[in-house]
Amino acid sequence: MANKKSRKLDIIGELSRGFTQRTVPEGYMDDPLARKAYGDYFGEVGFEKGAAFSREIRNRKPPGFFGSGRLSMVDLGTGTGEFVRGLSEGLLPDIPGGIDLLCVDRSLSALQEFSGQWARPEGISLRLVPALLPEAPDLPRIAGPVDVLSMANLLAENEDRLSGFLTLLKGFLERLSPGGLMILVEPADRRSSRSLLGLGDRLLDLFPDLRILAPCPNDRRGPCPSLASPDGWCHEDRPAAFSRSLTQTASSLGHVKDSLKMTYLILSRGEKVGDESGEGALRLVSPLHKEKGMSWGVFCDGTTLFRLRLKNRNRNEDTRAFVRLKRGETIRNPGFSSEKEASDGAFADWPSEIPLTGLFRPDGTPFHFSRKEE
Ligand SMILES: C[S@@+](CC[C@H](N)C(=O)[O-])C[C@H]1O[C@@H](n2cnc3c(N)ncnc32)[C@H](O)[C@@H]1O
Repeated sequence: MANKKSRKLDIIGELSRGFTQRTVPEGYMDDPLARKAYGDYFGEVGFEKGAAFSREIRNRKPPGFFGSGRLSMVDLGTGTGEFVRGLSEGLLPDIPGGIDLLCVDRSLSALQEFSGQWARPEGISLRLVPALLPEAPDLPRIAGPVDVLSMANLLAENEDRLSGFLTLLKGFLERLSPGGLMILVEPADRRSSRSLLGLGDRLLDLFPDLRILAPCPNDRRGPCPSLASPDGWCHEDRPAAFSRSLTQTASSLGHVKDSLKMTYLILSRGEKVGDESGEGALRLVSPLHKEKGMSWGVFCDGTTLFRLRLKNRNRNEDTRAFVRLKRGETIRNPGFSSEKEASDGAFADWPSEIPLTGLFRPDGTPFHFSRKEE
């Protein structure tokens, strides 16, 4: 028993290193032990991420998404299925027509196991397509019109095929239904983040009506400002609670599992989906740092990164909420702009007379600072 447990820990450790160092063997999902270890460990995190996206989509209310019809979903690189299970089960209560889900993976064993083990809710139908992506010429035809295209943790294993994936995603965007969504998720390391954000920029170039619903503020259309510096990146880090067994396994491996760490883009075509109020927004894309005499963080307006600081002497009833901001939260931009602010990493100061106004939590929930909260 103890041996079995330590073997499983070894496999999880090997997979984890393989994912980070890009050395994971191509057929790992066909190995029953590796598949089980993946599902037990990474699967729980994947499920939580999928569920978090279903909530975020509900919070952000994409125009034209929630109708009464049946939803057609395609998931690329499904693996043991936890991510797409979290996403589809989370969306289902708001999709009265039900969901037709098509799952694609190069590992038929993984797809079959997923299908066999999933206590699928009545409203969801499932089709499996074993295919090596991105070359799957029949896939768009088999899929038909698509309302949701999801792809989680696939690019990191296919860095040598990025241009093929760009073509594949382009094909899916061409057949995305009005109001449809493309959800792209990769790990929160620099390499994965840069590769996903770069792919997003290429897609924005290809489709003039493509919009980033989240996480970027202000309906970003231009290049991601995090990519402007050669080692810049951007990721999410949302507190999350996992099972005891997962956190124990994580700590035996020297990992910390207390949040959802990921790089992601939710894309949509058509109507503007940005901040409904039309106000300029700033998203905190770093942790909030507290140093002697000040608090500061890196904020993004979708075009420029600003290092904004609140000096302690500028803290008052109106500005105090600055020091409690968390990565991913969005506030109203009181007028910082690339023209006005100094560049080269210099600080811009949040003035004492300008009140801080909260717009959105990281998951798109509207948020307001109340005097009590502060
Ligand atoms: C890290 S797992 C991600 C599983 C799931 N999407 C998640 O986020 O938990 C990557 C999955 O993609 C599949 N995969 C990797 N490269 C692929 C390719 N080129 N074509 C099809 N499937 C691929 C692997 O078999 C594996 O099941």
